[in-house]
Amino acid sequence: MSIAPTSDFQQYLEHSKQRIDKALTLHLGGFNSPYSNVDSAPYLEQLRQAISYSQLNGGKRVRPLLVYAAAKAIDTSAHDNKQLDKVAASVEMLHTYSLIHDDLPAMDDDDLRRGQPTCHKAFDEATAILAGDALQTRAFELLTEITGCEPPTQLALVATLAKASGSRGMVGGQAMDLAAVDQNINLAQLETMHSLKTGALIRAAVTMGAQFAQANPEQLKSLDDYAEAIGLAFQVQDDILDIESDTATLGKTQGADIALNKPTYPALLGMQGAKEKAQQLHNQAIVALAGFDDNAQPLRDLSAYIISRSH
Ligand code: IPE
Ligand code: IPE
Ligand code: MG
Ligand code: MG
Ligand code: MG
Repeated sequence: MSIAPTSDFQQYLEHSKQRIDKALTLHLGGFNSPYSNVDSAPYLEQLRQAISYSQLNGGKRVRPLLVYAAAKAIDTSAHDNKQLDKVAASVEMLHTYSLIHDDLPAMDDDDLRRGQPTCHKAFDEATAILAGDALQTRAFELLTEITGCEPPTQLALVATLAKASGSRGMVGGQAMDLAAVDQNINLAQLETMHSLKTGALIRAAVTMGAQFAQANPEQLKSLDDYAEAIGLAFQVQDDILDIESDTATLGKTQGADIALNKPTYPALLGMQGAKEKAQQLHNQAIVALAGFDDNAQPLRDLSAYIISRSH
């Protein structure tokens, strides 16, 4: 099974990144409208700046790319529909909020994110908390702004994102992560924690792309099997890079997990074991896509990218 992404994929990646960056810039505009009020504008300026600073700064955009790729696997016209940009932007806003809060002193206390000072360092803690809060609610608001979509589909999109983000998803995983510091957790507990804190939103991204494209239950199930595998693989690779990469490449502080004594895959399985686990999850993801045609190639390539990426 080949790991090297194809050159077609590099082009698709570049094109989709430009597409999501444009969409994020456009849809963050929702924050600007209340600021036209001259009385409130100066007081809201710092919040507006913190939101743009954290959102429009060159993350890898893996989750929106998964939204696009999942829609493409089901229906190319859904993939090309501009309304899909709102789904993709919504997932990325939710993710950015999770990063801003993850970096706060009360959580991982990190100084660097996406190659620049973390939001609370560039602004202040209160502003970072509020910027995260605002991005989270904007994500859901944006889903309500999708036009030409049947109400049950729109509701399903909102429900998928809400469930993946809350205590049964990302927030639950973050709570486990914080509670597990200095603890000897076992492999099953580590897998649950990773699947929740990182896997849940990645799964939601794939499901939401497929829901928008009107996937049938069987397609949704296969795509969810794929997403479950790559969601976990994504965090396994994040743990590996925390040890093997360097701060400049990562754009965040290398060695942060060890410094905080976080339980990770390399800590439990050793580096070789963690790499084998990532490869095994990639293989699982490819098998889950067996029933899909060439339009699922970006999904296959994204899986390879997730376990071979350097940052
Ligand atoms: C980092 O996510 C946090 C994890 C869930 C591991 P990404 O590695 O996707 O970060 P960005 O969005 O590219 O900065
Ligand atoms: C963060 O996991 C997961 C979420 C933000 C939900 P990490 O704490 O490992 O992410 P990084 O390494 O700071 O990006
Ligand atoms: Mg963390
Ligand atoms: Mg962190
Ligand atoms: Mg990490």
